[in-house]
Amino acid sequence: MLSIDKQGDTFLYRQVIDLIAENIDSGTLRPGDRLPSLRKMSKTAGVSIPTVRQAYVELERQRRVESRPQSGFYVRHRAGNDLVRPTRTKALKPVPLSGRSLMERVYDGVNDPDLVPLGIANPCMARPAAKTLHRSMKRVMARAEERSLGYASTLGEPTLRRQIAWHYLDTIGVQVEPERICITNGGQEALLLALRAVASAGDVIAVETPTYHGLLELIDSLGMLAVEVETCPEEGVTLADLVRTLDEHPVKACMFSTTLGNPLGVTMPDDDRRRLVRILEERDIPLIEDDVYGDLRFDGSRPVPAQFLGRKLRALTCGSFSKTAAPGYRIGWIVANQDIDEIARLKRAFSCSSGFLQQLTLADFMASGDYQRHLKALRPVLRRNAERMAALVAEHFPAETRTSRPLGGSVLWLELDRQVSAETLFDDAIEAGISIAPGHIFSPCDCYKNFIRLSFGHPWDERTDEAIRWLGQRVSQLVASQANGRHPKKGRP
Ligand SMILES: Cc1ncc(COP(=O)(O)O)c(C=O)c1O
Repeated sequence: MLSIDKQGDTFLYRQVIDLIAENIDSGTLRPGDRLPSLRKMSKTAGVSIPTVRQAYVELERQRRVESRPQSGFYVRHRAGNDLVRPTRTKALKPVPLSGRSLMERVYDGVNDPDLVPLGIANPCMARPAAKTLHRSMKRVMARAEERSLGYASTLGEPTLRRQIAWHYLDTIGVQVEPERICITNGGQEALLLALRAVASAGDVIAVETPTYHGLLELIDSLGMLAVEVETCPEEGVTLADLVRTLDEHPVKACMFSTTLGNPLGVTMPDDDRRRLVRILEERDIPLIEDDVYGDLRFDGSRPVPAQFLGRKLRALTCGSFSKTAAPGYRIGWIVANQDIDEIARLKRAFSCSSGFLQQLTLADFMASGDYQRHLKALRPVLRRNAERMAALVAEHFPAETRTSRPLGGSVLWLELDRQVSAETLFDDAIEAGISIAPGHIFSPCDCYKNFIRLSFGHPWDERTDEAIRWLGQRVSQLVASQANGRHPKKGRP
């Protein structure tokens, strides 16, 4: 395999890069294969360990391999083109929600159990924790009996709030007082309470673009307006565009997903988080941080929510067990550094409290260590699914298709040929027994008509392979039909 020329002009690390690349190109090293360890490669090639490391890091930068903590470097799965960075020079205007009827059709698709579920972001279903959660619930029923049938307190069961506080300390080393946590009915109610605490009807809320459609529906239902801030597929919210937007519009609050935003799957780097905090502190604008995917980075790393990076920032961080454990339990939370009394007042007014049995069950699930064990087992399944989906898209979709590179979570964001209407593809896919999420619903402006979001958060089977293959073929047919002016025939995969 190896022939390193130590006398030649080419740097040794470059030669190692070329050797690995040749072996990938020839198929000797296949997607998912582990590269030789640094030590082994250094021995076989007769070069130093730092030289091999330099080569591997460069290959990682080129996206040919990826490093996995405590495991080594692996050949990346073949995937198509990257999404392009946005390059807007003017801030967008605040607008009301459009495409409500399409959103309703998307939810119909998501709720139909007969469809291949590529339309819903449901990561924990890729490896359900049914048995361990059931065990926790049985323990709770045996212990708490009638008490578990009663009302929980407004802010939520103290044992669960303590477990959540401990989880922050354990994973990111920040101390959160349980008294600043309010348990909610899922992440969605957390976002609702947070919005109501800091803004009123008519106010302008800054959001990422594209952004989670549930957030847009919420903003709309409260009579507020969303203004979109340019979001880069690699770094998240573009801070220059944020400043421009704040200069031009009377933004009342920002609602951003700093970790694994939906649908881009992007995580804001730490330096940008600090700059974001400074920008908002200077203008005294509150941040509502949607952090429901925070625990789901494939490599297990847990970025620190922006709330904990500033002293003056008024921040409400929203979390949820829906993505990690059980969406049906409807349990989420808010960590509010200044507004907890107002959050408690709103929680009392809207829903009194959240399901007690579910709260006790999740507290037991966390205290037993099962939650951490479950996350540890779930992440590699999601990573494998993501790689498989990206590889299938690269194989079956037209070559111009661009895809996101999620480092966690459960969704892939695809930019299709400009000619393709994602709404048409959505309708055809439903008829063929597949649910997908068309790009329109992730923005109040019509910017994503030729984008779709596909979910890999479900147990993978042959139907999933078939569905992706069918979608790729249908996109190719739609592109061709633009040329001849005829819509292709419909049919099941
Ligand atoms: C980014 C984001 N935030 C919040 C939510 C709502 O979470 P929950 O199901 O806990 O209400 C979702 C669900 O899809 C989401 O994707």
